[in-house]
Amino acid sequence: MNRPETPYSETPSPETASPEPVVIDCDPGIDDAVALLLAFASPELDVTGITTVAGNVGIGQVVDNALRLCDLIGTDPRLPVARGHAGPLARAVRIPDEPVHGEGGLGGVTLPPSARTPHPEHAVAWLAERLRARPAGGLTLIATAPLTNIAALLHTHPDAAPAIKEIVVMGGAAFAPGNVTPSAEFNFFADPEAARYVTEAGVPLRIVGLDVTRAALTTRADIDRLLADGAPVTGAAGRMLDHLATRYERRHGIDACAVHDALAVAAAVRPDLIEWTDAWVTVECGGEFSRGKLIADVHGRTGRPHNARVATGVDADAFRAFLITRLLHTYGAPAHP
Ligand code: BDR
Ligand code: CA
Repeated sequence: MNRPETPYSETPSPETASPEPVVIDCDPGIDDAVALLLAFASPELDVTGITTVAGNVGIGQVVDNALRLCDLIGTDPRLPVARGHAGPLARAVRIPDEPVHGEGGLGGVTLPPSARTPHPEHAVAWLAERLRARPAGGLTLIATAPLTNIAALLHTHPDAAPAIKEIVVMGGAAFAPGNVTPSAEFNFFADPEAARYVTEAGVPLRIVGLDVTRAALTTRADIDRLLADGAPVTGAAGRMLDHLATRYERRHGIDACAVHDALAVAAAVRPDLIEWTDAWVTVECGGEFSRGKLIADVHGRTGRPHNARVATGVDADAFRAFLITRLLHTYGAPAHP
């Protein structure tokens, strides 16, 4: 497992000379949970904190899930987990009619209650302070949830922005169909104004949307490997993914599932797994059917300068192998050295 940055550890990871400091802004959520497992299994990353935002479930549940997941992973007890926004910036969200992530947000998997408490500061204030303490380009944000916290950060604390090296965002569907409406993906649809603000804020952005996450499915065989391993973390991951795959089978007739947010973490560690296309991007905030849609001008039709790298292709097999191997090697039963 990677080790946290100061102040709660001075020791660099033995595996990597200088792991990349990151903060993960998330709404666990099954795939957020697996993304966290992957991040803490990646010596290339130094996860310096977790910020949370309402999305897959309400903010209280999201924070509770994040704390329980920290216990499951065995992160440093001083790792900050900060509570963020309880809802979108501008308009009320339309809650999905069917809860994708099951009861409690983790596919019905009940993790033991945590004795950890959330960081006393609001996620946005905490993030601003953490950024101000870093040099220019000193921190990468991985955002796997509605972009409410990140937009609030950039709007309220613009002086903190230069310390952001890059924001890797799971969200949007530039060319693929949406998963909430015919055109919009959940994270962008949940807070389109925030997503638009972030895309147009002038910070370096990588966007990992449904165009690639739906093309990089985790298979039933992968899930069975986790379940067969059966160690506390791999077993929990297997059971959560089993919930998703069962839902995919019911709805789409495929015995596999997208683990969207884990691909965003993989993109931060192994950007070479993905094909990137530079584009000017924004998010549609109006429209009867297009609210929340990611617009990617890859052919320069608007004449506007590129403001993001959009994921347009993925080595699906390499991603699956990367994810499952890291989970088994880091958290698996001793049979997996
Ligand atoms: C995104 O929406 C959420 O349900 C997932 O956690 C992921 O971040 C996929 O559209
Ligand atoms: Ca998410």
